[in-house]
Amino acid sequence: MTNQLRVGPNTRVLVLTGAGVSAESGIPTFRASADGLWENHRIEDVASPEGFAKDPTMVWRFYSERRARAATVAPNPGHIALAKLQRDLGDRMMLVTQNVDGLHQRAGSDPVTEIHGGLYKTRCTHCEREPFEDHDLYMTEGDLPFCAECAAQNKTSLLRPHIVWFGEMLNAADLHRVTRFISNAEDLIFVAAGTSGAVYPVANLVYRAKNSGGRTVLVNADEVQNASGFQQWIRGKSGEILPTLFDIEPPV
Ligand SMILES: NC(=O)c1ccc[n+]([C@@H]2O[C@H](COP(=O)([O-])OP(=O)(O)OC[C@H]3O[C@@H](n4cnc5c(N)ncnc54)[C@H](O)[C@@H]3O)[C@@H](O)[C@H]2O)c1
Ligand SMILES: [Zn+2]
Repeated sequence: MTNQLRVGPNTRVLVLTGAGVSAESGIPTFRASADGLWENHRIEDVASPEGFAKDPTMVWRFYSERRARAATVAPNPGHIALAKLQRDLGDRMMLVTQNVDGLHQRAGSDPVTEIHGGLYKTRCTHCEREPFEDHDLYMTEGDLPFCAECAAQNKTSLLRPHIVWFGEMLNAADLHRVTRFISNAEDLIFVAAGTSGAVYPVANLVYRAKNSGGRTVLVNADEVQNASGFQQWIRGKSGEILPTLFDIEPPV
């Protein structure tokens, strides 16, 4: 197959995924979901600290619906192929996802860097306790969750989704691990799949990879905004392309 990427014994593979990788599982991509609207709200207004301060019930309902939806769908062959690649390459492969849906983990990928957070994690708006796993749904004002640890100190602190919202910083340690993976690679393949390249700073990773001598490949259905960073575009569905994309050379 002409589009195959040869993975040699010293090759490191960095895969960045976006909403398009989960589209074939039935989760709408960001731009495809009714022009970026949810119940007539702009997604940017729901997925932001300002939106949460203004109407936490609405924001929790939005994420609760997404929790419920993601739980009913299954990983597709794209997720499964990436989990296999990671098993084959071990720490020579790094998987970074902008998706919050947990489908990579359900396909067996481990570890997964969830660079924009995770739908099934919740954290406190005030104290420093670790984000914790949470599958509960909070649909009405009466459901709003509060921090038990803060309550023990007589403080009333709302819990919030562990999601990187518009206007918020990425986790510095995550970003550092990704850039270190790039700079440590002698022979790097960077693949971005199902992402429109519109959300920064993640959309810059392709340029970092390219500048450090990596081969940069895009697997995407449509044109992307950071197209100039890619040396090759394999156009189509990630669930069809990813399963045969990598040709791993056996160790000598
Ligand atoms: N599944 C999720 O967790 C989810 C869903 C929607 C949005 N988001 C969030 O919204 C932001 C959106 O940015 P983004 O770049 O990830 O998504 P995006 O919606 O901006 O872009 C998705 C890209 O995938 C392409 N695409 C659609 N179906 C495809 C398929 N089957 N195969 C290959 N490509 C396909 C589209 O052409 C588009 O370019 C992210 O930050 C993410 O955190 C997450
Ligand atoms: Zn707390």
